[in-house]
Amino acid sequence: MTVLGGEGEIRSLRPVRLGVVGCGGHTYRNVLPPLRQIPEAVIASFCDHNEEKARLYARAAGSDATWHTDLHEMLSSEDLDGVIVVVGFDDESGEPLYPPVVAEILRRGLPVWMEKPPAADTLGVRQMIDAAREGGTFAQVGFKKVFSPAVDRLKQLTALPDFGRITQYTYTYDVDLPAEIGNLRSPSGRRFLDDFVHVASVLDYVVGSASQIQVVRGPSGAGIVVNQHADGTIGTISLSSAASGLSPVERFEVVGEGANAVLENGAYLRYYPPGDRGPYGTSTSYLPPVGVASPPDHGPRIWEPEFSLGNLHGGSHFVQGYYHQMRHFVDSVRSKRPPQRCDLAAALRVMSFLETLAGGFCEWRDIAGQPQVTYQHVVDAPQSFTCSVCGNAMTLKDGWNYVCRTCGLTRSGQQSADAARV
Ligand SMILES: NC(=O)c1ccc[n+]([C@@H]2O[C@H](COP(=O)([O-])OP(=O)(O)OC[C@H]3O[C@@H](n4cnc5c(N)ncnc54)[C@H](O)[C@@H]3O)[C@@H](O)[C@H]2O)c1
Repeated sequence: MTVLGGEGEIRSLRPVRLGVVGCGGHTYRNVLPPLRQIPEAVIASFCDHNEEKARLYARAAGSDATWHTDLHEMLSSEDLDGVIVVVGFDDESGEPLYPPVVAEILRRGLPVWMEKPPAADTLGVRQMIDAAREGGTFAQVGFKKVFSPAVDRLKQLTALPDFGRITQYTYTYDVDLPAEIGNLRSPSGRRFLDDFVHVASVLDYVVGSASQIQVVRGPSGAGIVVNQHADGTIGTISLSSAASGLSPVERFEVVGEGANAVLENGAYLRYYPPGDRGPYGTSTSYLPPVGVASPPDHGPRIWEPEFSLGNLHGGSHFVQGYYHQMRHFVDSVRSKRPPQRCDLAAALRVMSFLETLAGGFCEWRDIAGQPQVTYQHVVDAPQSFTCSVCGNAMTLKDGWNYVCRTCGLTRSGQQSADAARV
C-alpha cells in the first residue's frame, strides 16, 4: 500500500488497519494527530453513536476510511488489525465505558488500545483480561506519561548503579481527593479517577506497587497519600487543586542512596549524582572540589526540551508520550506480541491501588495482591569518630558536627573522614 511517511514522502508498506471507536474531543485533539507520524497506522474505519461525527471524522482522516454508528456492525464488516477505543464515561452511572466495549472487541481476537481510565474498579479490568484470554489477543491502556521521554529517562536514571535502590519518592499533583469515600463513580470520584490514574501509572512503572497506604484528607479536598512498599521504600503523593492555575500540574522526585532525580512539569528533568557539597562551615565554593574521582564536569545534569527548531519532540504529543504509546501499540499489533508497558496487568495494579486509596481516611490499608510490609523499625547505630590529631573520641556538638574537645578539630558527621578540617 502507498502512504505518506513522516515527512510527507511517498512510502510503500504493509499497513496496520485500525478502527477508531469514539469520535470525541480527545480523539480529535490527541489521538489522531500523532498517528500521522506512524505511516503504517492507517485508520480504516470510524465508529460513533453520532452519525454526523463518524462521517466527518472519516472524511478528515485523509484515508479511504469508512464510518459506522454501531460497534458490532463495524467489527463484522471491516477487515481490521486492531482497534483504538476512546469512549469516556457513562453519563448516568459515571462508569467508564471501556470494559464492555473493549471486551467485545477482544473476544473477536482483535488487539485494542484504549484510553484511560480503563474502569472504575478491578472488576472491570478483570472483565477485559478474561476477554483477551478468550480471544487470544491483548490490550494496551493509554497511560501516556509512562511512555513520555522524560519518565522513560527518569526510570533509566533510577536503574544506574550509582543511584542505588529507590528509597523514597514524592509526587505532587493538581487534583483533589474525592469526598465520597469508596465511590469513584460520583462526580468528584470521577474527576479523581480520570486524572489520578496518570500518577498511579507512573509510580507503578518507575517504583512498582506499594503494599500499604494511608490517606489524609484536609477540609479543602487536598490530600496526602503515604505509600509503603514491601522492600522498605516509602513515598508520598501530595494532592491539591488549590494551587494557582498558572503553575505546572506536577512534580516528581525520586531519591536513591546518595542520588536523586526530579521531574518538573513532565518535561524538565534533573539528575543529582552522588557527590559532596563540601565541609560544613569551611567550604568556600558551592562547586564540588575537583579530584581524581570528581572531574570538573561532575555535578547535576539537566535536560529540557528545545522549542526553537522544527523538530517534533517539543510538541505536546511527543513531550507527553501520546506519540510513543501509539508507536508501541502499532508495533505490538504488527509483531503480534503483547505490549511491554501499560498492558492489562498494569491496569489491574493501577486500579487495585486506586480501589484501596478510595477508602476511608487516616488508617493503614493493604493493597490486594501485594506482599506484606515486613521491615521493622530499627534505631540508627550511633556514630563515633576519633580525632585524627589527638586520638580522642570526638563529641557531637550540635545536630551533625563533631568536635575534639582537646584540640578543637571539627568534622561533619555527614562527610567522609578526609573532609575533616581543623
Ligand atoms: N490521556 C489523556 O491525556 C486524556 C485527556 C483527555 C481525555 N482523555 C480520555 O479520553 C476519553 C474520551 O474523552 P472525550 O473528552 O473525547 O469524550 P467525548 O465524550 O468528547 O467523546 C466520546 C465519544 O465516544 C462516543 N461513544 C461512546 N460510547 C460509544 C460506543 N459504544 N460506540 C461508539 N461511540 C461511542 C460518544 O458518542 C462520543 O462522541 C476519556 O476516557 C478521557 O478520560 C484522556
